[in-house]
Amino acid sequence: MHDYDYQIDEKVLDKTRQEPNSQELLKIIFTYISKISHEKDLEKLLVLMADMGRDLIVSDRCTVWLVDRKNRSIWTKVAHGIDRVVLPFGAGIVGCVAEQGIPLVINDPYSDNRFDKDVDRRTGYTTHNIIAIPINNSEGEVIGVFQGVNKMTSEAAFADRDQERLLLASIYTGKELEAAILHEEIVTTQKEIIFTMAEIGEMRSKETGNHVKRVAEYSRELAIGCGMSEAEAELIKMSSPMHDIGKIAIPDSILLKPGKLTEEEWKVMQTHTQLGYDILKHSARKILKAASIVAHQHHEKWNGTGYPEGSSGENIHIYGRITAIADVFDALASDRCYKKAWELEKVLSLFKDEKGKHFDPGLIDVFFDHLDAILKIRDTYRDAV
Ligand code: C2E
Ligand code: SIN
Ligand code: SIN
Ligand code: SIN
Ligand code: FE
Ligand code: FE
Repeated sequence: MHDYDYQIDEKVLDKTRQEPNSQELLKIIFTYISKISHEKDLEKLLVLMADMGRDLIVSDRCTVWLVDRKNRSIWTKVAHGIDRVVLPFGAGIVGCVAEQGIPLVINDPYSDNRFDKDVDRRTGYTTHNIIAIPINNSEGEVIGVFQGVNKMTSEAAFADRDQERLLLASIYTGKELEAAILHEEIVTTQKEIIFTMAEIGEMRSKETGNHVKRVAEYSRELAIGCGMSEAEAELIKMSSPMHDIGKIAIPDSILLKPGKLTEEEWKVMQTHTQLGYDILKHSARKILKAASIVAHQHHEKWNGTGYPEGSSGENIHIYGRITAIADVFDALASDRCYKKAWELEKVLSLFKDEKGKHFDPGLIDVFFDHLDAILKIRDTYRDAV
């Protein structure tokens, strides 16, 4: 280790902080518990829990680790300067606590052979004290570990009191942590379903490679551009690739027809909107619900001349209006079995003409304001020739 790192470290760890008194403790607990009980997002919850733990025991760092039983390891996301790290069960102090479910308080880690000195060597940080407490779910299984490093009061050691406080924090937050883990699994599952279905749809209509990725990114860009939150933009990004999922039920003879469709064929083709909606509408899941709206409404037009319902203006859901622009922009700029790709100039002039006719006029303004970003997406996800 460089002397330089060592000096900085010791300066930062100026151990002059005070233990919170009982009133301050209550305040810490109330403040964090009210935030934690509203937090479904796993990553944010982990940060809140780590902050709470750090304040309760006056440690320099606190990290919440999660148990991955299948891989017999623990992992953590960003918390107090430590990036995502994975450790096997049994490795280091936290790994032992994860495996055995028993709290450990170690105030002389360098003479404890369970301590992993490599971590300090890699980070240039000096560990003087470690406390690690298991977090249990409602069945009493260990689902995580609270880890505090370096006591910041003049006592310079963790005591029974710190163990009790972290244990309390782990009891109060265990259920929330379990719920957030389940929630993340649900969301991950939905994303997997959506990408699989969108890919199947894409394979069927022989649309080359990146169509769904581009539509997803264009939709996200437009959503951000019209002032939506990151979370909602992300929801639109995940659901817009599903817009044509109903084409899965359209016969090849129509879907892949090299030329113009007959009146009869066109009627069948238009049913892909209703079909997509019918596939998705029963789900109570947020992403699939959004996808059902997109599938249903992406061919509606602002002036009411679209299908299947002929809705107009703001009666068309904003997700439908956004995906309409993303879809047509991509369809025109790409080769299809029935047409060649258009030049950019021609595409842009159609978008100007269709402002307030096919497309939401406000969104067309957003589209042109964000044209640079949109063209960058097009170039990033260009189809291989
Ligand atoms: P798609 O190929 O994904 O096209 C999506 C939308 O982009 C179309 O919705 C339309 O609004 C726009 N678009 C695509 N190509 C052109 C074009 O050459 N000119 C203009 N003005 N707009 C274009 P639309 O019209 O509701 O069509 C829905 C889907 O029906 C299309 O999805 C495609 O799968 C199919 N389709 C439409 N026309 C034909 C056709 O002539 N032949 C075949 N085989 N399929 C067609
Ligand atoms: C250990 O738990 O043995 C080291 C891990 C750390 O200091 O973060
Ligand atoms: C809670 O999860 O909010 C309460 C924790 C408990 O008492 O089990
Ligand atoms: C959520 O509630 O944010 C996702 C889970 C769901 O779709 O029900
Ligand atoms: Fe469509
Ligand atoms: Fe499409």
